[in-house]
Amino acid sequence: MIFKRLELQNFRNFDNEVLEFDNGMNIIYGQNAQGKTNILESLWLFTGAKSFRGSKDSELVKFDAVKAKIKLDFYDDGRDQDCVINIEKSRNAVLNGVEYSSASAIAGKIYAIVFSPNDLNIVKDGPVHRRKFMDTCLCQLYPKYISTSRRYLKALDQRNSILKNLKFNPNMEEFIVDFEKELAVTGSEIIGYRKRYIEAINKFLSKIYNGLSDGKEEISAEYETTAGDNEAEFLVALKNSRYEDMQTLSTSVGPHRDDLIIKINGISARSFGSQGQKRSAALGLKLSESAVISEVTGKTPVALLDDVMSELDTSRQNYILNHIKGWQVFLTCCDISNTEGLKNGKIFEIENGKLKQK
Ligand SMILES: Nc1ncnc2c1ncn2[C@@H]1O[C@H](COP(=O)(O)OP(=O)(O)OP(=O)(O)O)[C@@H](O)[C@H]1O
Ligand SMILES: [Mg+2]
Repeated sequence: MIFKRLELQNFRNFDNEVLEFDNGMNIIYGQNAQGKTNILESLWLFTGAKSFRGSKDSELVKFDAVKAKIKLDFYDDGRDQDCVINIEKSRNAVLNGVEYSSASAIAGKIYAIVFSPNDLNIVKDGPVHRRKFMDTCLCQLYPKYISTSRRYLKALDQRNSILKNLKFNPNMEEFIVDFEKELAVTGSEIIGYRKRYIEAINKFLSKIYNGLSDGKEEISAEYETTAGDNEAEFLVALKNSRYEDMQTLSTSVGPHRDDLIIKINGISARSFGSQGQKRSAALGLKLSESAVISEVTGKTPVALLDDVMSELDTSRQNYILNHIKGWQVFLTCCDISNTEGLKNGKIFEIENGKLKQK
């Protein structure tokens, strides 16, 4: 998948801008608040997803305008294609001349991954962020994962509400058994998906991280479950935790409590990693996600890397600039000296919503 040309009209702080991209590396640089992230955000919208900043559609329209239009020319499936997104209070999309009533209907046609400074939380914060990292990609790739997760969450809700009533009505314990069975069936399916996903991630992660750290560091990611190794073990774990769960009024075992343990040179990246190591690990996970999507769908997502260079030393920066092979990359940075090692590609300078190619 190659993004060739982007047109922005009244999008965020842009009036009318056109960018023609390089097939490999595209650097967008400028001072703070000039519109760098806005460009990545506009590209991301072509995936059909909402803004990665969580903004409302109406916030994407330039302050003094009524509507915005963004157009992407891209190459995929062996031919040139184009997609237009019109934004007012909501978005609609026109893909190769065919109109879609909502922009989310084009999901699955154009693939991208985004790395933003927030993604550091995958490595440095609580397990909820690592579960979200796995779930987001699995939901994109497998509709069955979405339906199974819904069933799991429903059963979890039901077990938790029985836990709340059990104190006053011990007869209700017989009902909990059915929900625990449903939790064990759906939960072990979720865990299976996640374990296979992490196996797939690991195939790419060690190579990418090794490159980033110039062969000096090793990384590993391992799924850690609270639910045992299979459906039967999960069922036993649920039964064994019932009394304790009655005290906390929540279910203490299951994929909703699982974690992904990321280690650098054998020790926890979360507890002991330096800033640069954490950033490299988060970036490695995101790029590996992209590689897995590519393996499963046959399409190579473009990589949108927002502010990834800060805190990285020159050798890590050079790896990003020159060694992410086979992907088209869009990378923002404030400091042009960070890109001195760039061998091929295009550099765009941005000032107050106006672009010039260097
Ligand atoms: N709807 C809008 N209309 C006009 N301007 C907007 C709109 N939304 C955001 N902006 C402006 O865009 C600018 C921020 O752009 P952006 O977040 O892309 O900056 P950036 O270059 O990535 O900066 P940083 O280096 O700090 O991350 C802000 O000055 C903001 O006021
Ligand atoms: Mg920014």
